[in-house]
Amino acid sequence: MFPVQLHPASYRHLSQGHPWVLKDSYTEKFRAKERLLLAADKKSRKSFILLTDTAHPKIKARLWDTLEGDVPEPYDFISILKKRIQSSLAKREKFISQREDLFLTFGEADFLPGLFIMKLGEGLIIQSYAHYWKKFQKDLIPILRELLQDSPLSVSFIAWQERDDSKKTPLVPVWGKMPDEITVSEFDVHYKVKLTQGYDLGLYPDMAAIRESLPFNWKDKKVLNLYSYTGAWSLFPMAKGASKVVSVDLSAKYLEWLEENISLNSFSASHHSLASDTQRALKELLKDGQTFDFILCDPPSFSSDGKKTQTSLKAYQQLLPLIKDLLAPKGEALLFINTHSITRKKFEDQMKIYNAKVGLKKIKSLGLKDDCPLIKNFPEGDYLKGLLYKRI
Ligand SMILES: C[S@@+](CC[C@H](N)C(=O)[O-])C[C@H]1O[C@@H](n2cnc3c(N)ncnc32)[C@H](O)[C@@H]1O
Repeated sequence: MFPVQLHPASYRHLSQGHPWVLKDSYTEKFRAKERLLLAADKKSRKSFILLTDTAHPKIKARLWDTLEGDVPEPYDFISILKKRIQSSLAKREKFISQREDLFLTFGEADFLPGLFIMKLGEGLIIQSYAHYWKKFQKDLIPILRELLQDSPLSVSFIAWQERDDSKKTPLVPVWGKMPDEITVSEFDVHYKVKLTQGYDLGLYPDMAAIRESLPFNWKDKKVLNLYSYTGAWSLFPMAKGASKVVSVDLSAKYLEWLEENISLNSFSASHHSLASDTQRALKELLKDGQTFDFILCDPPSFSSDGKKTQTSLKAYQQLLPLIKDLLAPKGEALLFINTHSITRKKFEDQMKIYNAKVGLKKIKSLGLKDDCPLIKNFPEGDYLKGLLYKRI
């Protein structure tokens, strides 16, 4: 373990539970080959064990351990890693009876910084947001195989995905035989997950728990799903008895995938796909005199209508009045932003300003839960922010 010094602000953040050391003049001294760093803070008398990530553009190290006294010798990193994975798995077993798509580890919130392990049906997808995990790959795979064997969470293949912000890298199989496609069930709805065609797998398990937790009676309701992607928010209401669903996405490819997903299930609801920019679709639906009992809006962090690009938060200025006009009386709208760079407070304050002229009633705030836990003083972990509104 290599001793390093940190900026006083870094010590303060680490003591408060924020697990990232961001690029500054102190981190320039970190060396890539020194995997574990030891930063002793005289003020708090705590020692921080950090994992170095010199290749990352911003997050140069992530917190692995906080110690009050001396570092035990020898420090057995691999057995601590195994214990942490074991404890994460134990917390997830209860969800598997309802969902085959689950996060088995959720990075910083499971004290496995930058390591997100997702179970998708019979497959395990290891998503690495920090470069050092690649160096531990040969330790990680046997640990996972041993812990998952004969458990309710067992899998038949393991794949690896680097999740560097700047690149969209495909899955690399690291154990077992990875098929091109698998079918995955979430609350009795079946989805096609495509494993070999690129970065997009077709299902985001971080939304699943939010879907199930909504206190909304979908029976005979009309639903509009904006930025639908492969349709998770279209199929779930259909399974729960919605009578009609309209899905809007700019991408014809994702809408075809959505239709494939519908054909894997047997729903009685009518479904209509609209390949369009969201704002344009909202105006057309209004012109057409349509109304909806529930509108879901989950834009990408930056979206483009084909001409200009803007943040999802800014886009709500135009979208919110249109959404309100399309809501039936007592209709509800669930609006998300999906980015760690806008805080929850900023999102809610700005939406309050946009809503002042629109007049929807805020019902509640929603966010990650269950298999996607949050930790205190780490707002970046709370990246998925939702607001539920009602038309009164
Ligand atoms: C974050 S994904 C939505 C995920 C989806 N709600 C789910 O839970 O599976 C964003 C989607 O927005 C679509 N998109 C991007 N810009 C758009 C626009 N201007 N209008 C409509 N769809 C757009 C993308 O094609 C992509 O499918």
